[in-house]
Amino acid sequence: MRTSVESSMFGTKNKYLQRKTVENAFQPAKEVSDPERFAGRRGVVESSYYGLIDEGSNIAIVGNRGVGKTSLARQILAISEGDNSLLNQLGLPSDEVMDFLPIYFSASRSISSFQELLHKILTAREGLWDWVYDVPKAKEVMESYTPKFSAGVASLGGEKKEVEQTASAIDDHDVETVFTNIVQEIVKERIARDGILIVIDEFDQIQNPEGFASFLKSLSTNAPKVKFVIVGVAQDIQNLIREHQSSDRLFAGSIVKVPPMEKEELRQIVRIAERHVSNKIEFDEEATEKLVSLAQGHPYMVHLIGKFALREAFMKEVDVIGEEDIQATLRRIAESEADPILEGRYKTAVASSRHRELVLKAMAEMQSEEDEVFTGTAYKLALDWGVDNASQFVGHLTSQDYGGELIKVRDRYYRFRDSLFAAYVKARPNLY
Ligand SMILES: Nc1ncnc2c1ncn2[C@@H]1O[C@H](COP(=O)(O)OP(=O)(O)OP(=O)(O)O)[C@@H](O)[C@H]1O
Ligand SMILES: [Mg+2]
Repeated sequence: MRTSVESSMFGTKNKYLQRKTVENAFQPAKEVSDPERFAGRRGVVESSYYGLIDEGSNIAIVGNRGVGKTSLARQILAISEGDNSLLNQLGLPSDEVMDFLPIYFSASRSISSFQELLHKILTAREGLWDWVYDVPKAKEVMESYTPKFSAGVASLGGEKKEVEQTASAIDDHDVETVFTNIVQEIVKERIARDGILIVIDEFDQIQNPEGFASFLKSLSTNAPKVKFVIVGVAQDIQNLIREHQSSDRLFAGSIVKVPPMEKEELRQIVRIAERHVSNKIEFDEEATEKLVSLAQGHPYMVHLIGKFALREAFMKEVDVIGEEDIQATLRRIAESEADPILEGRYKTAVASSRHRELVLKAMAEMQSEEDEVFTGTAYKLALDWGVDNASQFVGHLTSQDYGGELIKVRDRYYRFRDSLFAAYVKARPNLY
């Protein structure tokens, strides 16, 4: 392993680094909140900004898994509160300093309908609960619908606490009205000049969001200063809210499709991480290019691989990470199941067959620009690797028994269900 000239002369630079600093240079498990650590994304930040200043528009953020949707949503929240540092960093206009009351709420698989979602937003601490409690008129609205609510407040002796049980008395039928009236009251208090911004992350997890578009429509008439940002894994807005009616107008011009990251943006993530460790450990050019090409547009992959490569370098007191170090890191990531979900899916797909693994890899290798795989070229590659019945294995890979990772698009064309998994398949060293 190489060390820099400086380190060989004077001992390594990096032993003065703190382990904690090294561990946090890349953050695969966390979205980016700090604008200084947010790389690239000028286009989507700009569209989101217009969505924010456009009164009456909501914003939808859609894209593949792990592409950076939550990170973008965090930046929108910061801008909505008047923090223009990212806009300045990207050289975007920032004459307006916004003043929204920002709410971030992440939906979960257990939420069955949007009414349940509204209910949760009203009653959770990370939702509107503090405001429901603090704004007398909002509290009155709540009490008028849920007599048990006031009893709940009294029995808590005036202490703020989640009211999940006490507020559960609101009927599904009434929750839309209660929500509308309450946000109206909160807006009237002018706690924030521009109104309320409610981010709902993981919107795709809601089992049946039917009716949400109509609700948003009536809300835009009755409470125009309430803006929603809905975020989720989807190709487009219809896909996300699973409705076809006038959703386009509700999100007029503010459907933000988060594309795979450009290579230059991915490089920037590496540079930001190096700065975090005061450049005491660096990735050489080949290692950076390797990282960037393995990522296939997914910032998550850069963070995952980068984190383990950096940790390794720190432990070995190496200052410069080279391409061969990245290769070794990939093996360690697989062996240690650093991402147990992706690794688990890989093992389910491959199971006990070396040939199925080769076909899976051939399919990942032969994706087109549009993320489609033409079986003609993929089967040929598999054949070069010694598999002569690739189509049989592709059949397996589309079935649920092996995780259903491949989807047939049309005759002789397939695609990976999840582009992040495809990137993982390409990067992961062979199991057999
Ligand atoms: N602009 C960016 N600059 C640097 N790192 C980023 C950027 N966007 C995302 N990341 C990193 O990429 C990873 C995935 O980001 P994030 O969680 O925002 O994606 P996501 O699309 O919300 O993922 P999921 O589909 O799993 O919810 C995280 O490690 C995050 O820190
Ligand atoms: Mg997310």
